[in-house]
Amino acid sequence: MLTAAELARRLRQQAELGAGALFLEHLSRAEALGLARKFAARAAASAATVREPASPTGEPGLPELGRRRARGAGRSAARVESGTRAPAQPAERGATFDERELTGWDHADAYREVRDTAFGCVRCRLHEGRSHVVFSDGNPQARVMVVGEAPGAEEDRKGLPFVGPAGQLLDLLLATVALSRDSVYICNVVKCRPPGNRNPLPDEIETCLPYLRRQIELVAPEAILALGAIAVHTLLGRQDAIKRLRGVVHRYEGIPVVVTYHPAALLRNPRWTPGAWEDLQLLRRTLEGERGTSLL
Ligand code: URA
Repeated sequence: MLTAAELARRLRQQAELGAGALFLEHLSRAEALGLARKFAARAAASAATVREPASPTGEPGLPELGRRRARGAGRSAARVESGTRAPAQPAERGATFDERELTGWDHADAYREVRDTAFGCVRCRLHEGRSHVVFSDGNPQARVMVVGEAPGAEEDRKGLPFVGPAGQLLDLLLATVALSRDSVYICNVVKCRPPGNRNPLPDEIETCLPYLRRQIELVAPEAILALGAIAVHTLLGRQDAIKRLRGVVHRYEGIPVVVTYHPAALLRNPRWTPGAWEDLQLLRRTLEGERGTSLL
């Protein structure tokens, strides 16, 4: 089993050598998940105890990459139509974490408004079966926004996106480019769990889309990582298979979009993992291009 320190060392070596070798293909699913769990546990511990997250490897010398300077006023944004208000969402880790990250942010009030509107949303049938509206996790002032499909059972229970096995793999993938859950912003196209984990229906996506649009406007990420077909098709307005869309940087309203497989699909098809690694490298290069700084 690779330790987090070994992982970081290998990443640095690969970056220094410009190597095309893919360490992830040498990891079994159990190893990858074990590693991802470690990252998840560390992120949870650091979120509970310190304000500034540790680097994903915990090693000195790896810069914190996801944070960025406070932004000035962003682009003007369309309002999200609110449905009839339902009772407020109970405070969850995601909500309190957001609160902390909103301090001193120009868009804090607008962000709270859209988030609280979503927490009370009854605009489509999905509100009937939900335990929680799953709005986001991570840092609303992050450089990178990760967009998934819809909450699963675990996410619905906890009120946070990507907290099940797919989320653990996502944590690991992010760590390969020195990003952590706390240094990106994570959300889904659809904020409430579709029953039985079915795909969200087109009308559910359409109804929920104003929330995602508004999140993107306010967070104004430097790059978006789109996970899986629903996120990719929704953001790009194209129905092509993921494998045809990977490998190039697309744009959503001028923001670079990097496309990759959904982590749940990677768990079912581990042979796609090297491709996901390449996609994360494309995300890294895209961010470096935006900022002109190295991520590793
Ligand atoms: N899959 C998603 O697309 N989103 C989640 O939050 C969890 C699993």
